Amino acid sequence: MKAAVFHKPGDIRVDNVPDPTILDPRDVILKVTATAICGSDLHILSGAVPQKENLIMGHEFMGIVEEVGSEITNLKKGDRVVVPFPIACGKCFFCTHEASPACENSNFKHYGPNGDLMDQKGGALFGYTDLYGGYSGGQAEYVRVPYADISPRVIPDHLTDEQALFLTDIFPTGWSAIDWANLKGGETVAIFGSGPVGLMAQKAAWLHGAGRVIAIDPLDYRLDKAKAVNKVEILNPHKVDVIQAIREMTDGRGADVCIDAVGFEPERNFMDKVKATINFEKGSIKVLEMCFEAVRRMGTVSIMGVYGSPYDNFPLFRIFDKGITIKQGQAPVLNYIDQLINLVSENKVVLDDIITHSIPLAEAEHGYQIFNEKEDDCVKVVLKP
Ligand SMILES: NC(=O)c1ccc[n+]([C@@H]2O[C@H](COP(=O)([O-])OP(=O)(O)OC[C@H]3O[C@@H](n4cnc5c(N)ncnc54)[C@H](O)[C@@H]3O)[C@@H](O)[C@H]2O)c1
Ligand SMILES: [Zn+2]
Ligand SMILES: [Zn+2]
Repeated sequence: MKAAVFHKPGDIRVDNVPDPTILDPRDVILKVTATAICGSDLHILSGAVPQKENLIMGHEFMGIVEEVGSEITNLKKGDRVVVPFPIACGKCFFCTHEASPACENSNFKHYGPNGDLMDQKGGALFGYTDLYGGYSGGQAEYVRVPYADISPRVIPDHLTDEQALFLTDIFPTGWSAIDWANLKGGETVAIFGSGPVGLMAQKAAWLHGAGRVIAIDPLDYRLDKAKAVNKVEILNPHKVDVIQAIREMTDGRGADVCIDAVGFEPERNFMDKVKATINFEKGSIKVLEMCFEAVRRMGTVSIMGVYGSPYDNFPLFRIFDKGITIKQGQAPVLNYIDQLINLVSENKVVLDDIITHSIPLAEAEHGYQIFNEKEDDCVKVVLKP
């Protein structure tokens, strides 16, 4: 079959690889019908999230059940499903405590309680390096889905693949960021990063009753997209002092909630890079620092962007003085997916309006290029096997 394979940093291309087979009675094999490239995949492409061996990429995918393992009774050949990106056994302590991204069984080689840099990760993720389980991903014609009695969800017939695909990751991720902030209604939510995750957080903010939603991004075309699809207010840090602007919009206080939907590889200038090198840091926490400044006292910062190393000069003093609540981590997709399928099915939210490129899987290398380089006004790439 064809699959988008990571070879080395900067080198993801489509190869011919062996088809997956059932390895465990709880597996299913899916014939992938749609899959997407995620901002998290770019951290592997850049080499910042390390991977030595070749690996089939992709944790955002859906498809049609092709083959079921002997213990699978909830799915049958021909069912059309989406698959949450964290791989969860459904039976361990964390899986039974609404914390499936911390599954104790799916990442058996590198699981541990501590969260170290090169070991002791949480549960496994599809197509996301050996540290996260080494599972082949879904940017492929076929994919093996372990623990298929737990995660895959059948999608209503009236939804197209494009309408349903983002239930795998980015919509539940944006939703988690907002849900963690416990909105009561009327809040001002400032969302840093207007890529796919930021755009989904914007949608989730409105659905949770936000009074104002502000999108921040250095790329005008992404802000234009945010304005067009989500009717948010926009701020470009190249044009305005974002912190001052947010305070002016909130009687001097700051936003009730700030979301970091950027992570450790923001747009960086020369001095940012020098600082990272001197401090042995991966990337930068500059967006996180902006969130702590822009949020009001006693407000909440939800961190959905990925961070991958210790960081010096972490502004703990500000977090303490302002009494900021922080929540972060892999999105617990399983906690939300059934509710979110209903929202999409009942047309209470539209997800496919962020897609800018729908291309054949065979052109995945080009898809990575334009998404990574922010070329051709690219916001979200869907690959069709
Ligand atoms: N926690 C989770 O479960 C989870 C799930 C999916 C993705 N993620 C992470 O979320 C992050 C965003 O993913 P994405 O797919 O939207 O990626 P993306 O790279 O397309 O989007 C990032 C956006 O941030 C913007 N940006 C860069 N510097 C900025 C700055 N200084 N201020 C404001 N905006 C800035 C970029 O222009 C871009 O539009 C990534 O780190 C990804 O790994 C986390
Ligand atoms: Zn993702
Ligand atoms: Zn588990």
